[in-house]
Amino acid sequence: MLLEQARYKLTIGVTMDTFMDAFCPTASQVRAPYSQLNNLLYKSYLPLIINSAAEIGLFDVLSAGTSLLEKLAEELNANVHVLDALLDVLEAVGLVAVQDGCYTLTSMSGTYLVSSSKVNQLRALRGFSGSRGPFDNLVEALRHDHVKTFNNRIWASEEAALSMEQVSKAGMIQEVVSFMKSIPGFSGARRMCDIAGSIGYYSLAMLRENDGLQAHVYDLPEVCAIARKVKRDDEHFERVTFHDFDITGSSWVDDGFDLFFCSHFLYEFGAKGTLVDFLKKVNASLKPGGYFVSSHISSYTTEENRLTFAMVELMTRAMGYPTHTLPKETLKEALGKAGFGDFTIQEPNEDLAFATMLLSARKLQEIL
Ligand SMILES: C[S@@+](CC[C@H](N)C(=O)[O-])C[C@H]1O[C@@H](n2cnc3c(N)ncnc32)[C@H](O)[C@@H]1O
Repeated sequence: MLLEQARYKLTIGVTMDTFMDAFCPTASQVRAPYSQLNNLLYKSYLPLIINSAAEIGLFDVLSAGTSLLEKLAEELNANVHVLDALLDVLEAVGLVAVQDGCYTLTSMSGTYLVSSSKVNQLRALRGFSGSRGPFDNLVEALRHDHVKTFNNRIWASEEAALSMEQVSKAGMIQEVVSFMKSIPGFSGARRMCDIAGSIGYYSLAMLRENDGLQAHVYDLPEVCAIARKVKRDDEHFERVTFHDFDITGSSWVDDGFDLFFCSHFLYEFGAKGTLVDFLKKVNASLKPGGYFVSSHISSYTTEENRLTFAMVELMTRAMGYPTHTLPKETLKEALGKAGFGDFTIQEPNEDLAFATMLLSARKLQEIL
C-alpha cells in the first residue's frame, strides 16, 4: 500500500501533494497514529460482545470443562463460523484460552462470568451492554445552561441494589470486613449503624464475624422494602433491622451505637461543606469510645485505574451529583471538628474495582 502511494507520488509529483494538502494533512503533520483512537473506540464494543457470549451460555458451558469448537457449537446450538470468530475475540481479551484446538475459561472469566460464581459480574456486564448507558444524555449535560437535578432514587430498585451488592462482593466487602475486624472495638461491639446501607450486604457480612452484633441499616423506605424481601432467607437476617429513613427529612438515627459504618454516601456532604454537621450527629449517636468507619473513594494511584475513575466522575457530574470522591484531608479535618481522633487509614487496594480508602476514627469527646 505504502509502496503504491510512493509510486503514485513519483508519477504525478507536485499535483498529488497539492491534492493531499487540500484535503488532509501530510503524514508528518499527523502527530499520533489513528490506530490508537480507533483501538479505543473498538474496545467500546466489547461489553456487548462479552454479554452476547454470556447470553448464549458460553461461559457456563465452558465452566464444565474444555471443549473443541464443534462440540461447543453443538452444545450452545450456535453457528460454528460465528462462534469461531467470537472465541477469537474472547481469546484476544483474555476471557478464553485455547490449546490444541480446545477452548477453556481463564481465571478471569471463570471467576466473574460464570453464572454460578458467587462473585459473578453479569449484572454489571449487562449494565454496560445496552444503549441506555450512563452517557446517553452527556451532550445535554454538557450544555452550559443545563441544570440537572440528581435523582437519589437511582439505587432504589431491586436490580440496582443487587448489582451494587455483586460489585461489592468482588473484593470490597472482604476488604471492609477485614478492616473492621482490625478495629479494637469490633469484637466487643453489640450495636452497629450502617447508614445508607442499601439492602444490608455490608452489615450481613460483618454479622458473620461477630455473633453478638446487631446491625441497624438506615435507607430510603423503598430500599428497605426490597431488603426485607430479598434478604429474608439470609442466615443472619433476624439480626438486622432495616429502618425507613430519609437523610433529607427531620429525623435522625437511634443512639447508643458502638460502630457507625458509612460507605459511598458522603461525597455530597464533603463537596457542599456539610460534613462536619453530619459527623457531629454521628458523634451523638455513638457511645463514648465508639468508632466511625468510612469507605469512600478518595483518589486513585495507578495509571490503569485513572480512566475508569475519570469516567465515574464524569458520569456522576453529568447526573447532577457534585462528585464521587471524598478527599482524605476533607474527611479527617471534618472528623477532628466533630470530636473524633485516633485515625487508622487503609489506602485503596487498587486491585479492586472502585477501591475505597478505609478510615476508622474513635469518638474522643461529646460534641452536641
Ligand atoms: C451509592 S449507594 C451506597 C450503598 C452502600 N452503602 C454501598 O456502599 O454499597 C447510596 C445509598 O444511599 C441511599 N440513599 C440515597 N439517598 C438517600 C437519602 N436521602 N436518605 C437515605 N438514604 C439514601 C441509596 O438508597 C443507596 O442505598
